[in-house]
Amino acid sequence: MSALRRWETAAFAVEPEVNAAFDAARARVAAFIGAPPAALSFNRNATDGNAQILSAFPWDEGDEVVTSRQEHPSLAYPTTYGAQRGHYTLRHFDIMGDPAQTLDNLQAVTGPRTRLITLSHVTSGTGTRTPVAEICRWAASAPFGRPIVTLIDGAQALGQFPVDVTALGCDAYAGNGHKWLCGPKGTGILYIKPTLLSLLWPAEVGAGSAASFSLTDGLHLAPTARRFEYGTRSLPIYSGLAMALDFWGEIPWSDRENRGRALADYLRQRLLDDVPGVQLITPRRWDDSSGLTTFDLPGVDAPALVERLRAHYRVLPRAIGACRVRVSTALYNAEEEIDRMIEGIRATVG
Ligand SMILES: Cc1ncc(COP(=O)(O)O)c(C=O)c1O
Repeated sequence: MSALRRWETAAFAVEPEVNAAFDAARARVAAFIGAPPAALSFNRNATDGNAQILSAFPWDEGDEVVTSRQEHPSLAYPTTYGAQRGHYTLRHFDIMGDPAQTLDNLQAVTGPRTRLITLSHVTSGTGTRTPVAEICRWAASAPFGRPIVTLIDGAQALGQFPVDVTALGCDAYAGNGHKWLCGPKGTGILYIKPTLLSLLWPAEVGAGSAASFSLTDGLHLAPTARRFEYGTRSLPIYSGLAMALDFWGEIPWSDRENRGRALADYLRQRLLDDVPGVQLITPRRWDDSSGLTTFDLPGVDAPALVERLRAHYRVLPRAIGACRVRVSTALYNAEEEIDRMIEGIRATVG
């Protein structure tokens, strides 16, 4: 951070120091997701990562992309947009609470023309954890004669449980630092496996992307995932993300996950025990879910309920549609807050 502070006053005089700080942040974040630093690109958000892969892919006539119907706009928009532009045909499947059913549904719409499969690691709407390792293993096994590229949106996964992109076997993994990692907004990360990197044509390039450039010799892209980075950007925020990782790193993963699981279990049990008519949408098991819990309250005006909970009970769930509510429980939440929310829901539901 001190190098970055000096950057604002000494500018190019400290450029090597600043580059070293940026590289250190890259190494720190890469280690966090089990990636080599050369495979990690920094951008603005998870959506950037998804869009960068989709727009750089060398699409051929007749290609198909498989994605789920439950994606956040971060994937739903760029996948649809690419189809509208004629790059590929889009096929959809449903993510289910049972991971085996999710895999079956995905396989049913995947075929010899499928070039890329993309989905969330944890869904935004219901917090369902998808069987990413199984999907990637199957896609990489060339089920129709050639491997199928996998792009995973990890925006809701990073920070909730350990993510090792190498162990998952995905070709690309997009995420951000501002959600469960509590890092600065504007920190997007994109892992690109070297075998995929060599296939891609970044849609946008500029200063920073090149290994070399001359008007006679043309542009030769950087050999690493850095080729997706260009132009002036806010460097301190990436160091801020590395600092957030150091902060969380002081708590062992087992403790972090146990706490996440305990809070989610407690919330779900209290909902089922104490809220008449509640329908839990998120899978009950931690291994199939996350710290997001979504439930329906048939007949209840969810936006009005959420506003009452915010104003009178100091808790901040989110309304999703007319009668659906999503609650995020993170390490820093307390059972007492869950109790308060249940009290507020009961006061409304009766
Ligand atoms: C699964 C998922 N992906 C992506 C995003 C958006 O991430 P970003 O704003 O970093 O693009 C969200 C936000 O809620 C999300 O739930």
